[in-house]
Amino acid sequence: MALESLRYRRGSLEVLNQRLLPGQLRYERVGGVERAWGAIRDMEVRGAPAIALLGCLSLAVELAGGAGPQEDLGALEAFVGQRLGFLLSARPTAANLGREAQRLRGWLRKKVEETPGVTPQELRESIIEYIEGLLAKDRRDNRSIGAHGAEHILGGVPGGGPVTLLTHCNTGTLATAGYGTALGVVRALHSGGSLSRVFCTETRPFHQGSRLSALELRHDGIPVTIIADSAAAAAMREHGVHAVVVGADRVAANGDVANKIGTFQLALAARHLRIPFYVAAPSSSCDPTLASGRLIPIEERPGTELTQLGGVLLAEPEVDVWNPAFDVTPHELITGGIITEWGVFPPSQLCRELAERGEQ
Ligand code: MRU
Repeated sequence: MALESLRYRRGSLEVLNQRLLPGQLRYERVGGVERAWGAIRDMEVRGAPAIALLGCLSLAVELAGGAGPQEDLGALEAFVGQRLGFLLSARPTAANLGREAQRLRGWLRKKVEETPGVTPQELRESIIEYIEGLLAKDRRDNRSIGAHGAEHILGGVPGGGPVTLLTHCNTGTLATAGYGTALGVVRALHSGGSLSRVFCTETRPFHQGSRLSALELRHDGIPVTIIADSAAAAAMREHGVHAVVVGADRVAANGDVANKIGTFQLALAARHLRIPFYVAAPSSSCDPTLASGRLIPIEERPGTELTQLGGVLLAEPEVDVWNPAFDVTPHELITGGIITEWGVFPPSQLCRELAERGEQ
């Protein structure tokens, strides 16, 4: 059975509850935006692209079920804006949902302006179709990211591979609609016969690497070894890692990248060991409105994620905890480049590319 983060049909949406993995494979119904908000906040679904898709699809499900104003175009437009705004409050760091919300609002405004006589029911249908299109786009972008990343990495390796990679967190099927971003690069290398092995960090405190990445890679027969986060620098040196590839939650205008906590220290270690460090992300992870990574809002999560595991105490319950979910890697440490659906870019050039494509 394929591992899918989301199962969508017109009017119906289910999510794989990732908190239960790898022990239990349970799909749960998402009837609308409130339930999606809770699933995002509680990390039943996580990963920047999957968060964006879940949010938007939950709105499509509400609209298909007849929620919102029926008679008035302006009121329907306002309803969509309000629901998207609410979804955005679930988790602050990832850019993708905000970016998709902004695009959807812009598209909706134009549609209303340029389609005189459109009825609220027709508009509602169009919004649903627009949102459904995001699923296919994410799958296409994943494939392109995989292909560009694999080619670029192999181009930098004498003899052209096979290569050993190291990755962090989960950026695969479970974090997207399909192939994955950084794990899409892993998959592309594997399917081309050019991957020796991938090392996955455990990714404390939520274990997205050991619980999720290892699960989906083994599911696809891809050679994977999990390591404790604290073993990453040693693994890079001792196991001949050719490249580190991670995902992104938000890319600032100067190319600084917010990603899962621990990414920054991986980039530092890779730099010391002269191993290329790549970020793989769709262009919807870019936020050209923020000049640098210092401005990216970093989510802090409950201390219990560090002090407890499955109800077992790992630390004294009253101890002070600092639990940021993400950190910022400065652009100069992203030595391999940022792999997008358009190709691989030096971090500082990605924003220019965005502007040239009219995506600002
Ligand atoms: O807290 P999470 O699990 O949502 O963090 C996920 C990451 O940091 C991923 O690397 C990022 O969202 C990209 S997923 C394709």
